[in-house]
Amino acid sequence: MKTLAHIPALQVDLELARKAGKTVGLIPTMGALHQGHLSLIEAAEKENDFVVVTIFVNPTQFNEKKDLEKYPRNLEKDLALLAELKVDIVFAPDEHEMYPSEKKRIYDLRPLDTVMEGRFRAGHFAGVAEIVSKLFEISSPDAAYFGLKDFQQLTIIRRLHDLMGMKIRIVGCPIIREDDGLAMSSRNQLLNKSERNAAPHIYKTLLEAKTLRSTYSPAEISDHVRAEINAHPLMSLEYFEIVEDKGLTLASSWDSGVNRVGCIAVQLGAVRLIDNIYFD
Ligand code: PAJ
Repeated sequence: MKTLAHIPALQVDLELARKAGKTVGLIPTMGALHQGHLSLIEAAEKENDFVVVTIFVNPTQFNEKKDLEKYPRNLEKDLALLAELKVDIVFAPDEHEMYPSEKKRIYDLRPLDTVMEGRFRAGHFAGVAEIVSKLFEISSPDAAYFGLKDFQQLTIIRRLHDLMGMKIRIVGCPIIREDDGLAMSSRNQLLNKSERNAAPHIYKTLLEAKTLRSTYSPAEISDHVRAEINAHPLMSLEYFEIVEDKGLTLASSWDSGVNRVGCIAVQLGAVRLIDNIYFD
């Protein structure tokens, strides 16, 4: 496993891999790696001959400076974890490498970036699209792996991919959870003990919401979830929406023909957690 910080060095190795007839799998991350990230890497290893993991805490996708500052970083530990896997390259650039100039890349992601996370984190998806488009261009992978944990992000990356017109297979991978149901996230390590104990309430509420599908409308279920989360002394609900999984439009009924996902964001102490569940 090689750790590289510069784009030209990465491109030299990718060129060699391609000349040797190897397919390339890309896994973009912001580090503080956990089993959720590792599951993407395992999927990439199964389907590709050459695997590149990127670690870059992308400043342009943080709408709050404080959130960026407190985002967990532990490159040493990440590299030790990755060394156990069959990763070929870890690309860990600094900010100047990825953003050498002030020039912004702008993609029209509407209306996908205006709902849910987009309503509460202004500019977040513009920053995600900016960095992911750069990583796609730099590495031209055959396939790129993303988690369903960030459901809206995956939908937006599929749109970005259409806009860019590159021939990359975008692979969505299932959500990996702790034994108690909490979706794994780098942010979980920012929870204190009582917050961590409370956190599984989010997924429990989503599972319960799903059982109500046969009896109640999407709006009624959303009201129930809102009340259930807000009744918890440590939690406040930012949003819960049941949306159609491609265009992210709000579901008004359970008509057949589309699949729906319930997406949630909860403030738990100082930490903001997101999760989702398929209803269809
Ligand atoms: P990060 O939060 O580090 O996540 C990297 C990838 O891991 C994303 O595709 C995310 O959906 C996936 N992931 C995180 N937790 C997961 C879990 N519990 N189960 C399955 N997959 C999980 O998402 C980002 O970084 C950034 O926005 C990025 C795409 C790298 C752009 O900066």
